[in-house]
Amino acid sequence: MVLDYHILEWINDLKNILLHPRFHNDLVIRIEFGFFDLYTKKEKACNFCIYSAREQSFFRDEIPNLEVETTHDSFKLHDYIDTFVVLFSHPGIEFTPVCTTELGMMVAYADKFAERGVKLLGLSCDDVESHKAWIKDIEAYTKGHKVGYPIIVDTDRKLIKLLNIVDPDEKDSAGNQVPFRALHIVPTDKKIKLSFLYPASTGRNMDEVIRVLDSLKLAAKHKIATPVNWKPGEAVVISPSLSTNKAKKQFSQGFNTVDLPSHKDYLRLVTDV
Ligand code: BEZ
Repeated sequence: MVLDYHILEWINDLKNILLHPRFHNDLVIRIEFGFFDLYTKKEKACNFCIYSAREQSFFRDEIPNLEVETTHDSFKLHDYIDTFVVLFSHPGIEFTPVCTTELGMMVAYADKFAERGVKLLGLSCDDVESHKAWIKDIEAYTKGHKVGYPIIVDTDRKLIKLLNIVDPDEKDSAGNQVPFRALHIVPTDKKIKLSFLYPASTGRNMDEVIRVLDSLKLAAKHKIATPVNWKPGEAVVISPSLSTNKAKKQFSQGFNTVDLPSHKDYLRLVTDV
């Protein structure tokens, strides 16, 4: 574990609590996913997250198998990820304009996600009543569409801390932490395959979400990668790990090797994949 500022702060806070006379004799500590929940015999006193910023939520990190409450029902995250899942967070404070347009566009694109076998999962920090009231606004804004996907209720900020998507610059009106506009694409191995991290001020581009899903799916099937500004139907590049001989076998339609000053023959374009 890296002892950065947050960890030192945490150790200091924990020391002060353990030394407090109120907690003598009846303190229980429950540890789950790096969170320490401190209970007295009567109540949960507080919780701490011991993950440092460098330890969570990078490419290929596993999504924690947390039990989450949502606008549909409660479930364990891994149970939900039985196909590609797009998990997207909103800067906590509901009834905000950009978030409403984003959630609405997710709804308007529901068919595009379904065609690709992708399930959506929203994440916001307000409570379930607030989520449900907000959904009415989203549906009114995106006329003719219903919010069919669940939205996680993360009032205690457990998931956003575990995913390391707490925005240091934004707070809700009560001064609580809120997440960035994060978006994780997670295949069935539950490991993050692709992440967007946008500040609260910048709404995401749902066409780009669809585009990267198409890229990921194609790259999972063939030894290819998609070049700059690629769109479905356009030429892709053959993976550098594939030798020319193997490429000739795998891409029987033929491919075009771009002649470059290095003459290393590494930029090989193929269509009709
Ligand atoms: C919005 O969704 O419009 C928003 C949320 C937080 C900060 C700024 C804008």
